[in-house]
Amino acid sequence: MSEDDADRIDRNRRHFLAVATAVTGAFGAGMVAVPFLSSLKPSARAQALGAPVEVPIGSMQPGEMIRVLWRGRLVFVLRRTEEMLTRLSENLDQLRDPDSAVIEQQPESSVNEYRSLKPEYLIVEGSCTHLGCAPLEDFEVRPNENWGGGFFCPCHGSKFDLAGRVFKSVPAPTNLRVPPHRFVRDDLILIGQDTGAA
Ligand code: FES
Repeated sequence: MSEDDADRIDRNRRHFLAVATAVTGAFGAGMVAVPFLSSLKPSARAQALGAPVEVPIGSMQPGEMIRVLWRGRLVFVLRRTEEMLTRLSENLDQLRDPDSAVIEQQPESSVNEYRSLKPEYLIVEGSCTHLGCAPLEDFEVRPNENWGGGFFCPCHGSKFDLAGRVFKSVPAPTNLRVPPHRFVRDDLILIGQDTGAA
């Protein structure tokens, strides 16, 4: 591991601890809510237990990422900029699965160069495919580190590009998983239900 990587792991571990504390708090609140599930109406109970989740994206700016929970799993929704999209075709030889050949990692409808239904929007589970830590976004381009932006896992240093594709020589074996999803409207995504084309 290079010194740059070690520094970055230290820096990101501190960030990770802060995020983990916040997420743990959120899950803690969710666990407190579990006893109340039985008192919910059937539709509300289904929603809480794993029904598809609607995500409004109308106010998202290019370059912005939001986190949502679906079935208790963290999901990243990133609105990529034109520049980010351009970078997806660079350095393909450094990726382990640039063409999404591992079919379990995404619906068929997202097997393309963007790993998404619409190029602008990346939707991936925020769970590292090594041991399940939450990767951190790192969208700063650093040519001297051969880094065009993407996601970095603070636990053991796995790296993923701006389409959630894993780099070679890291512990994570596969790309980040794209959950089933579809666009209800241009400004609304439904996570947990795909187009039916998969
Ligand atoms: S859990 Fe992400 S690198 Fe190990």
